[in-house]
Amino acid sequence: MDATRMNRPGTDPPLYAQVAAAVQELIDSGALRPGDRVPSIRRASRQHGVSANTVVEAYLALEDRGLIEGRPKSGFFVRSRVLAKAPSRRTERPRLVEVGNLQTRLFDAARMRDVVPFGAAYPSADVLPAVKFARITAALARQHPRESISYDMPPGSDALRREVAKRSLEAGTTLTPEEIITTCGGTEALSLAIRAVTKPGDVVAVESPTYFGLLQLLDDLRRRAIEIPMDPRNGMDLDALERTVRRERVAAVVAVPNFSNPLGSAMPEAHKARLAEVLRAREIPLIEDDINGELGHGSTRPKVVHAQDHAGLVLLCGSYSKTLAPGYRVGWIAPGRFYERVKGLKLTTTLATPSLPQMAVAEFLANGGYDHHLRSLRTLFATQVARYRAIISASFPPGTRVSEPAGGFVLWVELPARIAALPLQERALAEGISFAPGPMFSARQRFTNFLRINCAHPVDSKLEDALARLGSLAKRA
Ligand SMILES: Cc1ncc(COP(=O)(O)O)c(C=O)c1O
Repeated sequence: MDATRMNRPGTDPPLYAQVAAAVQELIDSGALRPGDRVPSIRRASRQHGVSANTVVEAYLALEDRGLIEGRPKSGFFVRSRVLAKAPSRRTERPRLVEVGNLQTRLFDAARMRDVVPFGAAYPSADVLPAVKFARITAALARQHPRESISYDMPPGSDALRREVAKRSLEAGTTLTPEEIITTCGGTEALSLAIRAVTKPGDVVAVESPTYFGLLQLLDDLRRRAIEIPMDPRNGMDLDALERTVRRERVAAVVAVPNFSNPLGSAMPEAHKARLAEVLRAREIPLIEDDINGELGHGSTRPKVVHAQDHAGLVLLCGSYSKTLAPGYRVGWIAPGRFYERVKGLKLTTTLATPSLPQMAVAEFLANGGYDHHLRSLRTLFATQVARYRAIISASFPPGTRVSEPAGGFVLWVELPARIAALPLQERALAEGISFAPGPMFSARQRFTNFLRINCAHPVDSKLEDALARLGSLAKRA
């Protein structure tokens, strides 16, 4: 450690630490806001009566803490607050999930045309290829009138399964069409997977925070959830998972390793290998939800944990709801060694996936310029997320922290602890603004002062104003 950063007991903090503490106080109080330039080194050295080196030392310490960032030739600037990792909970016990009517309230709001849509996580139809789909679907219905109205019994459309199999190479794995069953969206894929590998009363390990639709599903199926803390950048805390599987009989793990919902975290490749190994050693199935896998903000498409699975224990689930057409309800599952069970359950759940939407999605994937569409969607979502982030940083209460998602289109916002998200939701809805309150994302209704914001609707002055108004409501809470 640098000598200037050391402090002997009983003495005043070193000068650099005093300067750092003074600047941090300005940030904590909101006097210096995200994006503001902190005083130049020369100016700060005059203000505090210390040498330029001491100020540099102080600023580097604040940079280490993630509070400010140096920009070449421009000086130091206050960063948006980044979420800290949740503390590990050693005494976590599984429990029946109760997410009550929170989900209904969210989707009721999503149906209202005049409500600002920061709640449910779906992309605006304005950013999806709606017109192209209309053309493709009409042409297919004309060309194949009989096929398009007939049942396409499980495993579902040959053409779609071929396209999904081809694209699996991009995710570092090799699926064959024979390993895939098409589903009514990711929701049905998750439901089939959970029912195939667990029974009522079983313990299912989930991310914390996690997608509330999964919690609702576990609730309906009377499975018990055990929450594994998430690291905002790296995803599931694997030390905590290992402790949990040593202590509890975990029947399955559900994870979104690529761009989790709501955090947007991306599990590093080494962690994926470790996750596969931990579960293989105990023969625990992994339900891998890769619905956001193609929505990374970087240039490469991350691999799936399925790529590391040689035991058929990973049930890989996908969907085109976030990239192409949520209303078509087209998803898929590659259930590994549980194929026959999943195929049987599909028959008793929805019998078959609607034929025409499957044909249309397959055609779009084969000849509709899907890769080009994905590239622009990823760039758009990255830009959108940055814009929403900037507005939140400027208008939410001091002390608010915001996630830095590596992919997807939602932000996870931590308000100061005194501000409860559920009453804030009611006040915001009364003003025509929706968001998803934090307690929805936990089986125990944790995250009371968190909220999730959907950024997939292009910012215009109305949305910008609504987000700023939400910030003002939070300040007054
Ligand atoms: C992580 C995750 N999994 C599954 C789903 C459900 O997908 P679908 O709309 O295809 O049923 C969602 C939708 O928000 C999601 O965020």
